[in-house]
Amino acid sequence: MEHFITIAETPIDRLKHFLAVAHQLKKQHKTTGKNDPLLVGKTLAMIFEKPSLRTRVSFSVAMEHLGGNGLVLRPDEVGIGTREPVQDVARVLGGMCDGIMARTFEHDKVENLAKYAGVPVINGLTDYTHPCQAMADLMTLQEHFGHDLTGRTLTYVGDGNNVARSLSVACGKFGMHFVLASPDAYRLPQEDADRVMSIAPDMDFVMTSDPMEAVAQADAIYTDTWVSMGQEADKARKVKDFAGFAVDEKLLAAAPKHAVVLHCLPAYRGYEISEGVMEGKQSLVFPQAENRLHFQKGLIAALMGGM
Ligand code: CP
Ligand code: NVA
Repeated sequence: MEHFITIAETPIDRLKHFLAVAHQLKKQHKTTGKNDPLLVGKTLAMIFEKPSLRTRVSFSVAMEHLGGNGLVLRPDEVGIGTREPVQDVARVLGGMCDGIMARTFEHDKVENLAKYAGVPVINGLTDYTHPCQAMADLMTLQEHFGHDLTGRTLTYVGDGNNVARSLSVACGKFGMHFVLASPDAYRLPQEDADRVMSIAPDMDFVMTSDPMEAVAQADAIYTDTWVSMGQEADKARKVKDFAGFAVDEKLLAAAPKHAVVLHCLPAYRGYEISEGVMEGKQSLVFPQAENRLHFQKGLIAALMGGM
C-alpha cells in the first residue's frame, strides 16, 4: 500500500517514477489523443474541505482519461472529523473506492485517512504541504530546462507556507537550490530548513528578507498568494506585511534573463504578482497549471494502476 502524503516521506526513486510516468502519459495523450485504460472500473474519492479548481478538475479528468471515475465529496456532504470521525470515513471510503484524494485544513486528517483507509491516499493540499503541486512544478521545470534539474535555483518570493515547504523539499530531493525571500515573520521554521538540509546536505537553502538579492541567481521565480485558504481574516495585515515582496517587473529586472516565473494559482494580480509578469513572456503559469493534470495522471497510474 503506497500513499502520497509528503515529498519528504516519499523515496526519490518513487518521485522520479511518478514524474517519468507523468511525462510518458502526457506524451501519449498529446500524440494520440488518448491513454491506455489503466484504471477501468476504479473510483477515486475526492474529499474537499477547502475550495479548488485545479486539484478538483485535474484529478477528475485524470481519472476519466485513464478509464476510471472521480467522485467529488464536498465539505457539507462529508463533515470529515465533525459529522463522523476521520478513521470511519477512511474505512467506509476504503471499502467502496480504490483510492482517496483529500484536501484538508489539518495535515493529520490526511495522515489518519492513510492509516485507516486500506487504499492509497493522496494529499491534495493541507495547511502543511501541497506535494502534488510541487511535483507538477518540477515537471514544468523539466520540460523547460531539461530532465536533469541538478544545480538549478528556485527562488520563492512570498509567504513561507504549504507550497513553499513542499517546493523546498522537492528542490532538495532533486539536487536544486532553494531560496526563500519573505518578511522575517513569514519564513519557514528552521526545523524545515534543517530537515531539507539533512536530506540534501549539498544544497543551498537560503532564507532572506531581500527579494532583489534572492532572485539574482534564480532559474525559476515562484510566488503564491499571501493569504492562503483559511487565513482570510488576516488579509489586511498580511497585505501590509508583504509590501515590497511582489513578483513584478522591477523584481524580474534583478533576475537572470533566462529565469522563468511560476505561480501555483489562484493568483491575485496587483498583490503577490503583477499583471505584466503574470502575462509576460517569462511566465510559465498556465503550462504549469496544465501539468497538474499530467502529474496527477502519473501519480494515480502508479498508485492505483500498477504502472
Ligand atoms: N494550485 C491549486 O492547488 O489550485 P486549486 O486550489 O484550485 O486546486
Ligand atoms: N497556499 C495556498 C495554495 C493554494 C493552491 C493555500 O493554501 O490556499
